[in-house]
Amino acid sequence: MAHYYLEPSRTFSEFLLIPNLTTKECTPSNVKLTTPITKFKRGTQPDIALNIPFSSAVMQSVSDHNLATALAQCGGISFIFGSQSVEDQAAMVRKVKEHKAGFVVSRSNLTPQHTLKDVLDLKEQNNHSTVAITDDGTPRGRLLGIVTSRDYRISRDSLDKQVQEFMTPFSSLIYGTSGITLPEANDLIWQHKLNCLPIVDDQQKLQYLVFRKDYDSHKENPLSLLDSNKSYIVGAGINTKDYGERVPALVEAGVDILVIDSSDGYSEWQKETVEYVKANFDVKIGAGNVVDREGFLYLVEAGADFVKVGIGGGSICITREQKGIGRGQASALIEVNEARNQYFEETGIYVPICSDGGIVHDYHITLALAMGADFVMMGRYFARFDESPTKKLKIGNNFVKEFWGEGSNRARNWQRYDAGGKQTLVFEEGVDSYVPYAGSLRENLDKTIYKIKSTMCNCGSNSIAELQQNARITLVSATSLVEGGAHDVIMKESSLSGE
Ligand code: IMP
Repeated sequence: MAHYYLEPSRTFSEFLLIPNLTTKECTPSNVKLTTPITKFKRGTQPDIALNIPFSSAVMQSVSDHNLATALAQCGGISFIFGSQSVEDQAAMVRKVKEHKAGFVVSRSNLTPQHTLKDVLDLKEQNNHSTVAITDDGTPRGRLLGIVTSRDYRISRDSLDKQVQEFMTPFSSLIYGTSGITLPEANDLIWQHKLNCLPIVDDQQKLQYLVFRKDYDSHKENPLSLLDSNKSYIVGAGINTKDYGERVPALVEAGVDILVIDSSDGYSEWQKETVEYVKANFDVKIGAGNVVDREGFLYLVEAGADFVKVGIGGGSICITREQKGIGRGQASALIEVNEARNQYFEETGIYVPICSDGGIVHDYHITLALAMGADFVMMGRYFARFDESPTKKLKIGNNFVKEFWGEGSNRARNWQRYDAGGKQTLVFEEGVDSYVPYAGSLRENLDKTIYKIKSTMCNCGSNSIAELQQNARITLVSATSLVEGGAHDVIMKESSLSGE
């Protein structure tokens, strides 16, 4: 006989947090949001921890290399979308890894035999102010000079003029050598009034460029999520079909952590994929999505480093309507959290869980953390920002950005779904939509983070672990939801507009 769950499954909006005593030490500036993303043994530290509990969704309209860099600068992580060719996804990962905080691998490079026309073409294409001149025209070739706009005059110089005739030659350059620290590089930049400092090894091979503006931005980003090499940490989505080709390429590109992207993760396909990755590579891997204890334990036994929770709650998701599967996000999280804590008690291994989908208000993030999530994954939230990959459009008087589900026809992500071997989507599980444009990631994130920290102070918690331990969470009735908004007053805006 079928098993029934006769309690309704709940969403975040059905809960509120009850304040605990706020001590004087409990202030937003004292709250730390560091959180584990990979499993670890009791008493040890996770190999990877986030500085803020945010990850961006594995979606074409959300997580490319630009958003990944911007989010890593703020302390969170992106999982670059997998619904693209292996080469394109690996190239995006490589771009994030090359964007070493403050140290940049040169992207505009020519040889001394190129011409002024080549310089101008390259500048138009890349919009970079500095071109590195190396013996073979590669970013790691022997550095022979640098060209900036101060080295030529378009009105006077012939377009055929060779670079070697007008570049600033290596002998006249101020440069740093391998091993130089960022503050040391910055001292040289200031001392010599430079815009850019090349870093070379002992054979004069170009390593990095350090730009004055990047040093400033590095100082503004104290929470940057960096690996031991000072490169940004980045994730990537994979699927259970082509992992044999995709994973080696992503690992080669330097990916730090993978996640299997699927609407239903409780499957033998996921177990096989996790086992393959664990047997062949030294890279972290998360799996999901699940909504109950059994699904969680299955993926943990398979070896997952973290588990993602949520089916059907995503803003663009129509899985529940199409297939009738899913569970309210809060109920799913509460059950998986219980299973995780029990697993920790029994084995001493803490497996982080990620609440994926359905975050609408900032307080939903705090609730998710209180209910046991170590971090959240969001699509709609990040799709609204300048840094997401989609175009900003004007509709009527409003600016919007496009946002489409990985299960929509537009994404053509048949690998994410079990299409019974068909290389096509048989039916859609997501929609193609707009979201209101909201400006820069940094500005919005700062506000959201401040709200989370301030709520955590109301709950008497200076860390996510304390919040998970201390939170008191109450169900709300339908009528108290009315009480929660502005009520029984005449809103000035609507009375003025005559509505
Ligand atoms: P959001 O933050 O509410 O927009 O939810 C984002 C999440 O929705 C993603 O991380 C995925 O787990 C999920 N998702 C993405 N595309 C689809 C889709 O087309 N159908 C169903 N779920 C999707």
